[in-house]
Amino acid sequence: MNTAVDYRDDPREYEIEELARPDEMLMIEGVRRRCRELLNSRPNARVLDLCCGTGLSLLNVFDHPNVSEAIGVDTCESYLAFAAARFAGSKVRLIHNDAVNPAVDGPFDIIVMASAYHHIEDARKQLFLQNAKRLLAASSRIVMGENILPSYQSGDPRAYSNAVSVFYREVLITARNANPSLPEHVAALIQRVAQYGHDGDYEYKTSVEILLGFLENSSLKVARAEKLWPTLGPLSLTTGGNYVLDIEHA
Ligand SMILES: C[S@@+](CC[C@H](N)C(=O)[O-])C[C@H]1O[C@@H](n2cnc3c(N)ncnc32)[C@H](O)[C@@H]1O
Repeated sequence: MNTAVDYRDDPREYEIEELARPDEMLMIEGVRRRCRELLNSRPNARVLDLCCGTGLSLLNVFDHPNVSEAIGVDTCESYLAFAAARFAGSKVRLIHNDAVNPAVDGPFDIIVMASAYHHIEDARKQLFLQNAKRLLAASSRIVMGENILPSYQSGDPRAYSNAVSVFYREVLITARNANPSLPEHVAALIQRVAQYGHDGDYEYKTSVEILLGFLENSSLKVARAEKLWPTLGPLSLTTGGNYVLDIEHA
């Protein structure tokens, strides 16, 4: 049992953990980059960030000149307060709401889901995707940044737990390689994320096969996939890593 701080209500600890993880920052930067590329050809674009958290995924996106409106939705009041200070005076509007059924009017030109999908309970993932699809304008994209686990047998808790272990072992190795003097407190925060996954509490990750099945059942499909981490090493394209996926109407 990992006794590190439970950071789900602590925006500062959350960002310490994220910023110490090259795997995660490569993915978040990939999400921002992809959003900006799409925005270049979409004047007056409306952007919706589901599970926006402290706002890391909207940074460098909300201020693109083609954005007319950017809305972030999250259930965590302390993260939203942190994001409100970050975006004070900007066009970003923050809404305290369930991302599975957000009280917003579509359509949106880009829907961001950065480390969002794995925070939605498995039983609600289908509805999450279906409702997002309803909010998505024709020929528009969901930009999903997601930690994809190595393949595991769906419905087998031990296989799932093993996949979580394999994934976070690599995450921690990557963080320690980037910073050989990674503070123990920060290493413990990273291990705390793995614990959320093992406990099936706050994090409900997925493999590529399972994600593709959920997308298909929601009449959505992957239009473009970019792997951001790892570029080399034991986790490969087919066995997991951090991806940025463009998702569109099937
Ligand atoms: C890992 S953070 C990602 C935040 C941000 N997108 C980023 O990339 O840094 C996941 C966020 O999902 C939020 N969350 C979890 N379940 C949610 C739900 N049902 N509706 C809205 N937000 C939710 C959490 O409060 C947390 O802020």
